Amino acid sequence: MCGIIGYIGEENATDRIIYGLHKLEYRGYDSAGIAVIDGGALVRFRAQGRLENLEAKIKGKKTGGTIGIGHTRWATHGKPSEENAHPHTDCTGEITIIHNGIIENYFELKEELIKKKHKFASETDTEIFAHLIEENISKGFVKAAFAALKRIRGMYAMVILYSGEPDKIIAARKGSPLVIGLGRGENYVASDVPSFLKYTKKAMFLEDGDVAVITREKVDIFNSGKKVKRGVKEIKWSAQQAEKSGFPHFMLKEISEQPQAFEDTIIDRISDSSIKFENIDPEKLKGINSVRIIACGTSYHAAYTAKYIIEKYARVNTVVEVASEMRYSSPVIDKKTLLIAVSQSGETIDTIEAFKSIQKKAGYSIAVVNVVGSTLSRMLDGVIYTHAGPEIGVASTKTFITQLAVLYMFALYMARVKGEAGEKFMKDGIKNLRMVPGFIKTILKDKQKLENIAAKYCGFRDFLYYGRNVNYPMALEGALKLKEISYIHAEGYAAGEMKHGPIALVDDKTPNVFIAPENALYEKIISNIQEIKARSGTIIAITNRSNTTMKKFADDIFYIPDIEEDFYPLLAAIPMQLLAYYIGVKKGIDVDKPRNLAKSVTVE
Ligand code: G6P
Repeated sequence: MCGIIGYIGEENATDRIIYGLHKLEYRGYDSAGIAVIDGGALVRFRAQGRLENLEAKIKGKKTGGTIGIGHTRWATHGKPSEENAHPHTDCTGEITIIHNGIIENYFELKEELIKKKHKFASETDTEIFAHLIEENISKGFVKAAFAALKRIRGMYAMVILYSGEPDKIIAARKGSPLVIGLGRGENYVASDVPSFLKYTKKAMFLEDGDVAVITREKVDIFNSGKKVKRGVKEIKWSAQQAEKSGFPHFMLKEISEQPQAFEDTIIDRISDSSIKFENIDPEKLKGINSVRIIACGTSYHAAYTAKYIIEKYARVNTVVEVASEMRYSSPVIDKKTLLIAVSQSGETIDTIEAFKSIQKKAGYSIAVVNVVGSTLSRMLDGVIYTHAGPEIGVASTKTFITQLAVLYMFALYMARVKGEAGEKFMKDGIKNLRMVPGFIKTILKDKQKLENIAAKYCGFRDFLYYGRNVNYPMALEGALKLKEISYIHAEGYAAGEMKHGPIALVDDKTPNVFIAPENALYEKIISNIQEIKARSGTIIAITNRSNTTMKKFADDIFYIPDIEEDFYPLLAAIPMQLLAYYIGVKKGIDVDKPRNLAKSVTVE
């Protein structure tokens, strides 16, 4: 985790770095820090907690340096204190480093360095790296950095400064993301693009094992002892997309952007009756007889929904797994298996590592990611981008809806490739997808009703969410959203499972949220609702507008537009995001940065 940024140029480095850290704060907010070379000396500020604490410390003491690095931390080794905040330095205070990842052999290296009389000021694994460089700094900054890199094991994105050579930044990547922003007479290196998007749209993504030596005018990249070239990508996102633009929170802004994000994701890929993907080879899909989708968190819930749709439309056996479980299991994968990774960031370490162990055994692999150039997008055989734009709120919303857009399109596409879908079937499916953005707009117009429901229930301590079939993963997602941003305990269940346990929890203190549109299973879900009502439970229902019966059973109802039943998750997701959002806000929680979470989890 953690957000890191380095700047070298002609402008005030502190300003550029603080701006970048604001854009990276979603990656961690346990502490923040900055180091700048000014007049040949390193000047460092660090503060526990949010970035605003660091800004308060810097106020009135800003330096004039034009080279510097900054960090926002999600704590792994060592508690979130000022001592453990990055940047860390060596004994001389001339070498300073920021790091995202974990140095696994730090303990033995620390013992070795202590024997050599190095003094440590923090409990972090990171600090040892500055001391390792110090060991060889007499040979020059670059040589010393390479020598230090040889000694460490683990995952890292690192950015290093040395006041003795104030014309360069050194950056190294293994496992954790790093992207270089190429400007005119200035360059950036950061965990993510939004941190420099305002200043340049030219980006170069580093690969594993890359070490970059960055000066004002150029960037030299080395890998395995050789100089290498990395392609320059033009980023299409605008800096404006990464601003709140008048919304009180990024989360509400991003929820509101979903009609556009959905539209952007489908529009260039669909015609009247066919679907195309730019980076997918249909020939490779013909022999596929099983699909395995791997993901974490909210992306897992998008994947879970896709299982129902791919099996129904393409008639291909589909297994969905949480990446961290998949990685240590013994999956049966062969050349007839298609692997799909779903990840908004494309950097989630559990997902990346799960793929490393199985990718070669499979027939074909596809990444569904939002971030162009991210690790998964480069690692797998094919990639389908969700065009959600930058998502800053820690809880995924618009990336989720665009993942669903891609996965629904993919199910139709696969159905066609496998000869399971005729023209009429494709036409109907595409017609339904085209209707989604307009329907989401209708739901958004009704958001006041969800705010009212939130006001009524925000004091409750436990929630249960239920759905059946395609709406079951939505129950899981509804519960996850609520947990993440309101700190209320919530569980999602397949409604049919209610009688096998959760019914014991029914009381007047636990609201039950049902995703219950009128579909083939409506009567069954009404039976579940009645079983709860019979025991004095409370029901909040999400159902379709033309439903006239739900008012007999539910205490509160939110209506969504009528759509063909397979497509309900694409609409039901929205009220659940809004319900969680309003409950979180009413509880006074910073919904964009909920405690202990980070947007992209790049440690195991
Ligand atoms: C973190 C985030 C979640 C996200 C999950 C997977 O836990 O807080 O919102 O769903 O990572 O991230 P990915 O980038 O792989 O979709």
